[in-house]
Amino acid sequence: MKRIITLLLLSAALLPVGARERYGTGLDSLGSREPAYTIFTAVGEDASHQASISWAGAPGAAGQFVSYTTADDTAFTHARTAAPGTVVRCNVYDSIFSKLADNTDVYERHVFDKYGVTLSGLQPSTDYIYTVSAPAADGSLWTSAPRRFRTAPGPDSSWHAAVIGDYHHYSPLWSRIDHAMGMINTLDSVAGGVDWILSTGDQCAWGGSYNYWTELSEQPEYKNYMWAPVQGNHDHMNRQNGRTDDYFRYAWHLPGNGYDGQKGVCYWFRYGDVLFLMLNNEAMRNKETLDKAREWIEQVVKANPSRYIVAVEHYEWIIATDGSNSQLERFADLFTCLGVDLAIAGNNHAYLRTFPLNNTSVAAPGQPSTVYVVASSSDNGRGRALKDLVGHQDVIDRRWSEGPHTVGGLILDVNPERMILTLHDRTGAPVDSATIPAARGSETR
Ligand SMILES: [Fe+2]
Repeated sequence: MKRIITLLLLSAALLPVGARERYGTGLDSLGSREPAYTIFTAVGEDASHQASISWAGAPGAAGQFVSYTTADDTAFTHARTAAPGTVVRCNVYDSIFSKLADNTDVYERHVFDKYGVTLSGLQPSTDYIYTVSAPAADGSLWTSAPRRFRTAPGPDSSWHAAVIGDYHHYSPLWSRIDHAMGMINTLDSVAGGVDWILSTGDQCAWGGSYNYWTELSEQPEYKNYMWAPVQGNHDHMNRQNGRTDDYFRYAWHLPGNGYDGQKGVCYWFRYGDVLFLMLNNEAMRNKETLDKAREWIEQVVKANPSRYIVAVEHYEWIIATDGSNSQLERFADLFTCLGVDLAIAGNNHAYLRTFPLNNTSVAAPGQPSTVYVVASSSDNGRGRALKDLVGHQDVIDRRWSEGPHTVGGLILDVNPERMILTLHDRTGAPVDSATIPAARGSETR
């Protein structure tokens, strides 16, 4: 027995520290017992000067706040505090059928107050740390461990983002999140440091399973970066196929600048010289609702002249596995007209990149154009193999997949002259790259 214990201890010691920290952290049916939990850091509308912090707390537990300061002020000597701007009693995740890490069926029980605060007046290109404080059960003040983020630079600057999606965190198959978070670390190493993380959706297998959001929020990659996610179809559903935007809306606290009914789900933000349009496919299922989204896109672009425009949604522009139709034809005319430079999606669990397209055809030299990319999956479990193309043969430049065990991620590298979006495999090796020259100057700001 002693020998077995020694061997087990030795095996644990040989695991990389990051991996050891991640194992065995599945929550029970009641979720976190911390006074503040599921703490997420998201972009504000102006990512150079704002960040959006949110968390869950016990219903009615007043007196919660964020303390924040620059990362060099490790003792929080010069910290400022911010009270929540919004508090919403949240019961959308209560009594949701789910699964725990040990594979047992369970009804998760969660009723909490969702707190959101937008930090404003931040300095661009600056590393910040923050804590969340909340009253503990005994009445004392509890304070979280510090989390970290970096604000966006101002105009005419350079930066790198990690772009990753479709990892479907699912407690019984914990390796999914390990692969995805490992891919973020690989991208960080390859880029010499990424500044923030863009998610193409499907962070959770079931967005209705609140434990999965909490478990994500405890990963170092969620604790140390500013995130900007779009809602995936899995984030929008529960185990019994119930569907609502609220699972995504109340997991995060995203800029409330979407159109009616879409605030906190569909949103836009500016990061450096780039205007990001973050779309919600679940609200664009017929012509009437698609038109509403298209009107919003047009209004946002016209009100926010930018050197670059990037549109992000979850559903693929073209089915990557076989080239058949998906979303491209719904947006290409509008994107050409508005000067969208890059359109990023996910969902298909295989990678695809088009040539620069004008409307739905390959652009002639000098024509306005959009490059369409479908990100691969990153969980080593739900990838899809490529088949022969049945459509779009003339506009697809590159596809990539490792079959069911696909792990890939992208680096978006931006400076005033061009954007470069590069796909990397799990080893960090570059697989494919697109360079998008700046079509507009900073005078359009
Ligand atoms: Fe997915």
